[in-house]
Amino acid sequence: MHTILLKKILAERTWHMRVATPLVARKCRAGQFIMLRIHACGERIPLTIADWDRDAGFIDIYFQEIGATTELLATLQEGNAILDVVGPLGNPSHVERIDGTFVMVGGGFGIAAGYPVARAFKEAGNRVIAVLGAKTKKLLICEEMLKAVCDEVYVATNDGSYGRKGLVSDVLQGLLDEGEDIGLVFPVGPPIMMKIISQMTLPLKIKTIVSLNSVMVDGTGMCGSCRVTVAGKTRFVCSEGIDFDGHEVDWDEMMSRQKMYCRQEAEALTHQSESGSCWGGSR
Ligand SMILES: Cc1cc2nc3c(=O)[nH]c(=O)nc-3n(C[C@H](O)[C@H](O)[C@H](O)COP(=O)(O)OP(=O)(O)OC[C@H]3O[C@@H](n4cnc5c(N)ncnc54)[C@H](O)[C@@H]3O)c2cc1C
Ligand code: FES
Repeated sequence: MHTILLKKILAERTWHMRVATPLVARKCRAGQFIMLRIHACGERIPLTIADWDRDAGFIDIYFQEIGATTELLATLQEGNAILDVVGPLGNPSHVERIDGTFVMVGGGFGIAAGYPVARAFKEAGNRVIAVLGAKTKKLLICEEMLKAVCDEVYVATNDGSYGRKGLVSDVLQGLLDEGEDIGLVFPVGPPIMMKIISQMTLPLKIKTIVSLNSVMVDGTGMCGSCRVTVAGKTRFVCSEGIDFDGHEVDWDEMMSRQKMYCRQEAEALTHQSESGSCWGGSR
């Protein structure tokens, strides 16, 4: 059992939780994730390890309530416990001193997921820029955290309520137009955003590493649910990624596989809200 040490709302339906996980905290590195299961009849879901304290033995997760399990997670309070937290899973991001600027482009929960990677690239001696995207100012998360570890932070909101009006790709284009010498772009967030950024950087030959969030069941390379096609080969995101060359990902396949359980996800949510219980047990 893993006690929730802190719970904070950051934006509408977006939460920060600090969870006691001494074994995960001892070993995790930037770019890795956990699979958690709230109770014995619950499904396992992957969440990125956004921060950790090895001595105090906790990790920080940031999540959006978008379906049955994340809604249930959001009902837990400080002092409650999560049944299983397995990790750290996935390969750590490859962090090194690069030629040119490292640009982390984050959207939605991807902003928190990109934070430890941006910090690691800064610690490796790089110039680091973060470009954060949100629909509106109220939904923007983790700006201050990123300001503390980046040389520059830019924000784009769809409605122009904060930062530049438009998309993160507009901000990236602006940096390129201003002559920023970009060595590596790291988009993390909705697949459509990662696809668009990868398509933008391809003709410019700017290395682009994406952090894929395909549907995962076991998170350890056994079930095949997270499979994607990269450079024409089948790859398992959980055990071979989660970082891949964005120029080589078959985005259309990846995005269509993300929707493959939509019907079951909707049924689970309806069942949970109507009966107050999850599949196979009560909350
Ligand atoms: C490596 C990785 C790291 C992630 N990190 C974060 C994070 O830090 N914060 C965050 O808010 N979200 C993160 N996600 C997405 C998160 O796992 C899903 O939002 C969550 O599983 C949704 O579950 P649900 O039951 O609430 O919603 P559902 O209604 O079950 O699903 C809603 C949508 O979420 C996606 N999804 C559903 N189940 C899974 C699954 N098992 N694996 C991956 N995607 C799924 C699908 O696109 C689905 O259509 C991450 C995903 C991956 C693969
Ligand atoms: S989640 Fe099962 S193989 Fe990756």
